[in-house]
Amino acid sequence: MNAAIRAVTRAALAQSVAVVGVRRGFEGLLDDQISVLDRAAVVNIIQRGGTVLGTARSERFKTHEGVDKAVGVLAKNGVDGLIVIGGDGTFRGASALIEAGGPPVIGVPGTIDNDVVGADRSIGFDTAVNTALDAIDRIRDTATSHEVLHFVEVMGRHSGWLALAAALAGGAEAVLVPEHPDQLDSLCDDVARAVARGKRSVIVVVAEGDDSGGAAAAAAHLGPRLGLEYRVTVLGHIQRGGAPTAADRILGAALGVAAVDALLNGQRGVMLGEVRGELVQTPLALPSGSHHAPPASLMRLVERLG
Ligand code: F6P
Repeated sequence: MNAAIRAVTRAALAQSVAVVGVRRGFEGLLDDQISVLDRAAVVNIIQRGGTVLGTARSERFKTHEGVDKAVGVLAKNGVDGLIVIGGDGTFRGASALIEAGGPPVIGVPGTIDNDVVGADRSIGFDTAVNTALDAIDRIRDTATSHEVLHFVEVMGRHSGWLALAAALAGGAEAVLVPEHPDQLDSLCDDVARAVARGKRSVIVVVAEGDDSGGAAAAAAHLGPRLGLEYRVTVLGHIQRGGAPTAADRILGAALGVAAVDALLNGQRGVMLGEVRGELVQTPLALPSGSHHAPPASLMRLVERLG
């Protein structure tokens, strides 16, 4: 996200447009936590994980009064256009701002869940996949040495993208994701077959939101049935930090610049995303429940190669 913040700031300043940063998302906006971003403010941030502006969940912003107040704060600060980085919730909030009379808003997709409609890749996803992959590679070493079954839980409360990508790249034997429920029994058979073939290590990647209940629950269910010793590793929030990959920095840079261009060209209420290598615009206000789901082919690849 910092690559995008840097790109927005520098692209706008180059067009003689002043830039301010809102700290702590919509929550900070309600508290008028707005400060000037100049070139120096975004020096040496491209290599840093997270967001230098901070982020926060905001219950207050979900009310009509909250949205109206936010519109007032933006007007008071002379904000003529807003760029928001985030996922569905962020874009719903941005649409509410426009409807309540706020300035034009452009969205930039940023979530490790990679579930934003209109973007093949959201900022942060590639970094999170590589972080999970690094952990899986390490676990593979110990799994092979000790011949123990491993369950690795990755983030994804409603999305299996991270689990599928990390499982595929890490050569995992099996994967459990929310988009493919009721897989425990067939997975048990697959693992049993892999062990019977003489596999010295078996890794099952589990998305936290899978209907099995996560890695600990899946392991408690399958371990005894398979009669194998097992270990569970929950990667948790290490997946949301760390130096961003080159791919994420480049995506953030491209989307940040495009967002400034879109605002200056008079766009309002759209999100910019890369789809098949092209920059496309998608309305910020989408039907609720819209979800960029991983293709079934990813699941089949893991199954065929595991
Ligand atoms: O960033 C998205 C996400 O990682 C989800 O996959 C996960 O369910 C959620 O955030 C967890 O965030 P928190 O622990 O802050 O509630």
